Amino acid sequence: MSDVLLTNATLATMAPSGTPYGLVEDGGVAIRGERIAWRGRMTERPAELESLQSRDLGGRLVTPALIDCHTHIVHGGDRAGEFAMRLEGASYEDIARAGGGILSTVAATRAADEDSLLEQALARVDTLLGEGVATIEIKSGYGLDPESELKMLRVARRIGAERPVRVQTSFLGAHAVPPEYEGRADAYIDTVCIPTLEAAHKTGLIDAVDGFCEGIAFTPEQIARLFEAACALGVPVKLHAEQLSNLGGAAMAARFGAVSADHLEYLDEAGVTAMAEAGTVAVMLPGAFYTLRETQAPPIEALRAHAVPMAVATDCNPGSSPLTSLLTAMNMACTLFRMTPEEALAGATRNAARALGLSDTGTIEAGKRADLAIWNVRHPAELSYRIGFNPLHARIFGGAA
Ligand code: NIG
Ligand code: FE
Repeated sequence: MSDVLLTNATLATMAPSGTPYGLVEDGGVAIRGERIAWRGRMTERPAELESLQSRDLGGRLVTPALIDCHTHIVHGGDRAGEFAMRLEGASYEDIARAGGGILSTVAATRAADEDSLLEQALARVDTLLGEGVATIEIKSGYGLDPESELKMLRVARRIGAERPVRVQTSFLGAHAVPPEYEGRADAYIDTVCIPTLEAAHKTGLIDAVDGFCEGIAFTPEQIARLFEAACALGVPVKLHAEQLSNLGGAAMAARFGAVSADHLEYLDEAGVTAMAEAGTVAVMLPGAFYTLRETQAPPIEALRAHAVPMAVATDCNPGSSPLTSLLTAMNMACTLFRMTPEEALAGATRNAARALGLSDTGTIEAGKRADLAIWNVRHPAELSYRIGFNPLHARIFGGAA
């Protein structure tokens, strides 16, 4: 698309402005190249925009394009069998300790070649793009050996080349202890995970480092060793923390200046305070809460009271959250966690950008990337309210329709 002035729109700019949703009625957005040149009330538009070709949006709502800031969208196979087992009473932890869970996806991912992993992932990616998503974070973590981890990360990068989407990768080598290191988690961290992180960093394959701090995964001390290696490389860190129990992972991550701590159902007040002080984003993953039939919701009120920014993501993965709808995650964040529709939309735009350390996207403001979603709705609360309905009219990615 050439330079354009979008007219006759309601803008949910999501820019901090004191107005709910940063709402602008009778609004317009001028796009020059990949960037937003201006946005505001049409009556206040600068005269120089008159030369731009205009596109009448018929009163539709425009938001920043959505950002899914936590996915495991590259993976081999599925875990429909475990879904059935859980319905019969087995817990996620029981299945993991019996060698299923993450490790069953590790076996399927190791066995798959790059092309087939790409093809499987693209079907899911396309579903997200169809909902107005323009940025997707993608984790490794189902390889757990050097070659298979690098394979997953290469596939993630290929997704960004094959589709109009921005991909941010996270190295999740500390997702589970692989079978060949059973009972030797420390050795796995020191002799496989950290060297693989260094190799992946050298080839430009990673944008962040993630881990799973949990009884069925790694201790805070083991994750801290990995984070020290990440910090030495200058790579930002984030953590799956306090999902099934409280090990103090979020507070430990905050000490490393983590960009985000994710899940957080068992987060305590000390963890909330540590995140607030470090500016760590709390990423809510209601799809995993729902799938695992968890009953303890994350401490939303405490996070709100301490002004910890909250994001919302799908956690798209074959086990705990086989979800490829960010709009559904937003709905779940409201209904299951009592986030407001405004918090849910901020969680899938402005705060999701922050959880990825991105400052050029997530709001509609001059100078930001022109990543926009145009919706067949009048009010932004409708995005979180309907279930299983996709009101996307059009998506603009880096200024291109
Ligand atoms: O975010 N919590 C750990 N990792 C994923 C689950 C991965 C899986 O079950 O395959 C999560 O929920
Ligand atoms: Fe996850």
